[in-house]
Amino acid sequence: MPALIVAGAQWGDEGKGKLVDYLARQAHAVARYQGGHNAGHTVVINNEKFILHLIPSGILHEGKLCIIGNGVVIDPACLIEEMDALISRGVNIGENLLISENAHLIMPYHMALEAASESGMGKKAIGTTGRGIGPAYMDKMARSGIRMKDIMSPDIFKERLKAAVEKTNRLLDVLYGAPGFDLESVFEKYSGFARRLKKHVGNAGSVLNKALREGKNVLIEGAQGTLLDIDHGTYPYVTSSNASAGGACTGLGIGPTRISGVMGVIKAYTTRVGGGPFPTELHDELGNCLREKGGEYGATTGRPRRCGWLDIVALDHAVRVNGLSGFALTKLDILDGLDTIKVCTGYRIDGEVTKEFPPDASTLERCEPVYEELEGWKDSTSGKKKLSELPSGARKYIEWIEGRLGIGADMISTGQRREELIIVKENFH
Ligand code: GDP
Ligand code: IMO
Ligand code: MG
Repeated sequence: MPALIVAGAQWGDEGKGKLVDYLARQAHAVARYQGGHNAGHTVVINNEKFILHLIPSGILHEGKLCIIGNGVVIDPACLIEEMDALISRGVNIGENLLISENAHLIMPYHMALEAASESGMGKKAIGTTGRGIGPAYMDKMARSGIRMKDIMSPDIFKERLKAAVEKTNRLLDVLYGAPGFDLESVFEKYSGFARRLKKHVGNAGSVLNKALREGKNVLIEGAQGTLLDIDHGTYPYVTSSNASAGGACTGLGIGPTRISGVMGVIKAYTTRVGGGPFPTELHDELGNCLREKGGEYGATTGRPRRCGWLDIVALDHAVRVNGLSGFALTKLDILDGLDTIKVCTGYRIDGEVTKEFPPDASTLERCEPVYEELEGWKDSTSGKKKLSELPSGARKYIEWIEGRLGIGADMISTGQRREELIIVKENFH
């Protein structure tokens, strides 16, 4: 049962794309299980940068089966754009992309609903990526969504779209005074997408289960991160899917007993894009420094990422929620040269110190971080490929994290590029 989940342990952008790209070499298939093109996963190969939004990061390996699972919400226009951009750069998609017929679609009115809702929230806005993710999942749960298989059958599509457009147009008008959508033009546009995508659409769950039964390696790529999980994150400042490992089974149609490991991706410090509490956020020069040195600007929206110290309370929560079997530490090189490094080991709230991550944003907003200070290191970790090449301060930092979280570091990333990686333990053989 060699199914390995790679999930973000923080607020996203931990470097999942880079690690999935590495691990994909040994995988038969790479599958996304949730989220949509709110994700931006960066892979750098020979100084060429690829940013994947919907297509699994395994696509950059020739002949790798890449699956978009039923739990993903797909904007077909963006998917086609992403496919075309990859093809124009010489990536062979061919028969390598399989899209679940049960995946729900992001429709133009989802973007409109999100824009209207966000702009009405003022300071309380979630700070979404504006991709229509939340409203698409709303329609899925309300059973008024449109799935990939629906657009393949014109009659079914027309009937479902008619009901959805009528409902949404009323909502847009009454709630927000916003203009509605024309049924025929949406129908025509999406029918065109259906023709283009048809050959990639199929029963993804069945293909994955067959591969697992045959003992093949399956790599499961999370998007966003645990603290953005709809159930386990800093609600309501979260995304609208189960980004943590639990989402992988429902989002792909495989059983929990198939999962052989869960690797959490941990950035050596913390970042967050959008609104919501962030106890270890740095509002000073050091925060700016991490942003500039780490290139912390959103891979999807280009927004500056908020930066801060590593937060062990939040990571402990991620270890539990995901049942992490190990972790990959990324961007260690960005901490090179610091005299000391702070790490948050508790939260002070109402005069008491807790080590338990609070279940909601309003409590987390009142938490003040309690820090321990660790020694930094002067020598560079950049591009190092062996643990023994790391400065002792950097090794101690890794060991300290391992000790606190009670799990081991399987991989240490020391740069953007594909080969700038230390492998401590192989997860696939
Ligand atoms: P993802 O959404 O989790 O895949 O992460 P993003 O791609 O949004 O953001 C991670 C950024 O850090 C990307 O620009 C990566 O190229 C970069 N990156 C990943 N690992 C490392 C690393 O170890 N060192 C440095 N300097 N950059 C890294
Ligand atoms: P990857 O996969 C970082 C954040 C948004 C916002 C919140 C809700 O690259 O790690 P949404 O558009 O999902 O409804 O926005 O979630 N967010 C991300 N932050 N990385 C991501 O993806 C994100 N996807 C969504 O900024 O705060
Ligand atoms: Mg990202």
